[in-house]
Amino acid sequence: MAQAWNSEIIYQIYPKSFQDTNGDGVGDLRGIIQRLDYIHSLGVTAIWLNPIFQSPQVDNGYDVSDYYTIDPLFGDMKTMEELIHSAHDRGLKVIFDMVLNHTSSRHKWFQEALKGRDNPYRDYYLWKDPKPDGSPPNNWSSFFGGSVWEKEPNGDQYYLHLFDKEMPDLNWENPKVREEMVDMARFWLSKGIDGLRLDAFIHMAKEPGYPDAPYAKPGELVQAEEYFANLPSIDTYLRDFAHSIRQEFPNAYLLGEAASAIPERALDYTLPRGEACDSVVSFRYFPMKPAKKESVLPREAQSEVLNKREFKKTMAEWQRIVGSVSEPTLYWNNHDLGRAVSRFGDEAYREASSKMLATLMYLQKGTPVLLYGEEIGMRNVEFDALRPAVQVSLQKRVDELRHWGIPEKEAKKMAVAQNVVASRGAMQWEEETYAGFSTDRPWSGVNNDAAHTVSAQAIRPDSVLSHYKKVLELKKTDVFMNGAYRLLVAPESVFAYLRWTDAQTALVVCNYQPNEETVTFEELAEEPNAVLLTNGEHQLRDGKLTLSPYASVVLEWKKESKGKEE
Ligand code: GLC
Ligand code: CA
Repeated sequence: MAQAWNSEIIYQIYPKSFQDTNGDGVGDLRGIIQRLDYIHSLGVTAIWLNPIFQSPQVDNGYDVSDYYTIDPLFGDMKTMEELIHSAHDRGLKVIFDMVLNHTSSRHKWFQEALKGRDNPYRDYYLWKDPKPDGSPPNNWSSFFGGSVWEKEPNGDQYYLHLFDKEMPDLNWENPKVREEMVDMARFWLSKGIDGLRLDAFIHMAKEPGYPDAPYAKPGELVQAEEYFANLPSIDTYLRDFAHSIRQEFPNAYLLGEAASAIPERALDYTLPRGEACDSVVSFRYFPMKPAKKESVLPREAQSEVLNKREFKKTMAEWQRIVGSVSEPTLYWNNHDLGRAVSRFGDEAYREASSKMLATLMYLQKGTPVLLYGEEIGMRNVEFDALRPAVQVSLQKRVDELRHWGIPEKEAKKMAVAQNVVASRGAMQWEEETYAGFSTDRPWSGVNNDAAHTVSAQAIRPDSVLSHYKKVLELKKTDVFMNGAYRLLVAPESVFAYLRWTDAQTALVVCNYQPNEETVTFEELAEEPNAVLLTNGEHQLRDGKLTLSPYASVVLEWKKESKGKEE
């Protein structure tokens, strides 16, 4: 039987948006400490905190200027130690977000490197001379727009940055860089943290020589990921890193962010167990398609919905290829993507669709990774709730969408959905001016959403929150932790799968649409022993199962006699 590898249920906390305690409108460590009982009550086993290190906050902490200091925005080292101990007191593990691919341009290594080619830190980063005509060394475009190359202020070389120009990429070929990162991880593990989320680690290696992407048009910049994502030397860097820290901390948990990984690559990143990541998050889970079949608008001016057929194929692949020998992650959203109910659910059936999505995803094989607030059905932050400066930055997109004839309300919604601000709204605790998040206006905006607060949902047994607790409780049972998995043939909008062990079979059926649907499966010929979980209405008669819109049901058959024989 599988060992305890797959026993984590991770709750992602975006510290800036979770709970403010000093009235500056930004969440802090003290706020997380105050909410640990709540987090524990959900049934999760670990918390993952987005970066809390000292940072100029150009990219909300992913631009680290000192890995050994807590940013004063969040608190200090003593408060962090208290957080770690308080989490452990409740049996919760603590996972830090480790930014390995780049630092802030304010980091002392980079400040030194800028002093010139002879500086000992020069080789911590990636430099190249301009092309003969003085232009950037190649035609790669950065994830945040523009070239990946930026000219150094007082010299004539360019440095490489895959993200913002204030986030220069580290040179992982340099053994000193690799050592620094191991030292830093060890420092925090010695402080008691239990694991690391490896930010953007698949980008740590770049194609030697930095060749131009040959298919680009002259003068065009292209996101040439084949030259800076998932290259073979990543495996060496990752394994050496994992090996070095696990010598001292054998149980250190590693959650890799592998945005563009396909299942086969995910296997490289997670096998053999204990030698690389425990699990990786790929952004390839969600094939989308335009919401309306026939539309003359360009793709970026159309709202998208999940392509359920392709999604089934993708889930089945991850479950089959990764789930059988390693550990997939199970998630619907994170701080870079839109919120589950807005992107994949149905706001007209907000509660039912939120619950159905939870059942569908988290009872599969793998490690659930929840984003704070999805357990109360939080939706994308509303345009009008954003700070004026953020609204201004999104206005261009709104205008473009309006130009395509999209009504203003819809255009605002879409502009938010297409931006990372969507999921970073303040946590909704109570029905108060700032939802109990802060006494001041939240940095990220906060929705005015009375029914979708923790306090409103905690007292309702049929709330999204109560459903999440039941799903996670069920998730921890043998059949959903360790059982085999098979996705079943079903109508396009029904997602149904079996989980089974020697002792038990469970059938999970989710009606992913705003209509009632009747389905039948071989298993239903026999009366189930129990209904383990439901949302919405269902009826089982003569082997036929009818489900109300966005309903889900989990049925169980016990195999006691058979279990004894074996
Ligand atoms: C990862 C993070 C994202 C960040 C980027 C750069 O993709 O999830 O939020 O901007 O890395 O560190
Ligand atoms: Ca604060």
